[in-house]
Amino acid sequence: MPASSVVPGANGFGRRSTAADVTAGLDLGGRTILVTGCSSGLGLETMRVLCDRGARVLGAARTMEKAAAVCAELPLASPLACDLSSPSSVRAAVAAVQRMNVTLDAIIANAGVMAPARLQQVLGYELQFFTNHVGHHHLVTRLLDRLSSTGRVVMLTSSAHRRAPPQGIQFENLSGERGYSPWTAYGQSKLANLLFAKQLASRFREPGQTANAVHPGVIRTNLQRHLGAALRAVCVAVDPVFFKTIAEGAATQCYAAVHPTAATLRGEYLVDCKVARPSKRAQDAVLAAKLWDVTEHILAQMG
Ligand SMILES: NC(=O)c1ccc[n+]([C@@H]2O[C@H](COP(=O)([O-])OP(=O)(O)OC[C@H]3O[C@@H](n4cnc5c(N)ncnc54)[C@H](OP(=O)(O)O)[C@@H]3O)[C@@H](O)[C@H]2O)c1
Repeated sequence: MPASSVVPGANGFGRRSTAADVTAGLDLGGRTILVTGCSSGLGLETMRVLCDRGARVLGAARTMEKAAAVCAELPLASPLACDLSSPSSVRAAVAAVQRMNVTLDAIIANAGVMAPARLQQVLGYELQFFTNHVGHHHLVTRLLDRLSSTGRVVMLTSSAHRRAPPQGIQFENLSGERGYSPWTAYGQSKLANLLFAKQLASRFREPGQTANAVHPGVIRTNLQRHLGAALRAVCVAVDPVFFKTIAEGAATQCYAAVHPTAATLRGEYLVDCKVARPSKRAQDAVLAAKLWDVTEHILAQMG
């Protein structure tokens, strides 16, 4: 599928494009890209395809064992331990990247956890908010000095960001103890990913640096591990019609991270490799700025 235009939406890619399609013909030799959640699903496919095109990929997984197991299959991949629900693990991952002395051409914040049935907490915060948002905010912001002058940050969000609470982020209930709904909490964390991308894009002073957020589509992956058996069975039944394959699901994040026509996008929400309109809350710059400040405050408390 040719990329014939710099106009977003006219790039020739769509719902059925795969990560291999959107990177076809690109020589990523010399580029270094960090991918979180490389141990399964979209992260694994993203890492595989980017390595195929010549990029060096720092593959981050919850443990070094998990990262090393998948990176061992790919000569251009280097494993990195990074448990996003553990500030000390994130700090160690940042220190490891600093020691490597690399320049990052892209960071793909792909790892995520979805909709545990019951409230789970990390250090007093609801698990999804902490892992999907706080962990990635921590990792990405502490690596910005490593980002190249044309570096791109890609945040994995979801169309489920529309299921966030009406006020967007429940700052008074970040623990989840004042009420927990699995999907509302997932939606809140994915809205936070979108708001982070928007806020980061507005903070960049290098004109070539970008941050965008991506909804990959709906894909059957390990993300569904917390769904009940009945819902999983429905997913299997509708899979061929409604769902994307993993190869298709990884396309938009690869597009945003490396395709030349995505270089000019700033703080956008991408679906099927095209700019789309997110919820009204996701466009709220005041909310995005407040979330940034609250997250920094949380991290400061963690030492
Ligand atoms: N699949 C979909 O339909 C869909 C739709 C919209 C958005 N998304 C988003 O796409 C991204 C990738 O999801 P996926 O479908 O590829 O799911 P997946 O196969 O479950 O992959 C998620 C990855 O995140 C990792 N992860 C979870 N908690 C972590 C932690 N505390 N520290 C470090 N890594 C952690 C997982 O590692 P472990 O295996 O060790 O847990 C796994 O490698 C997620 O951000 C998700 O929200 C997916």
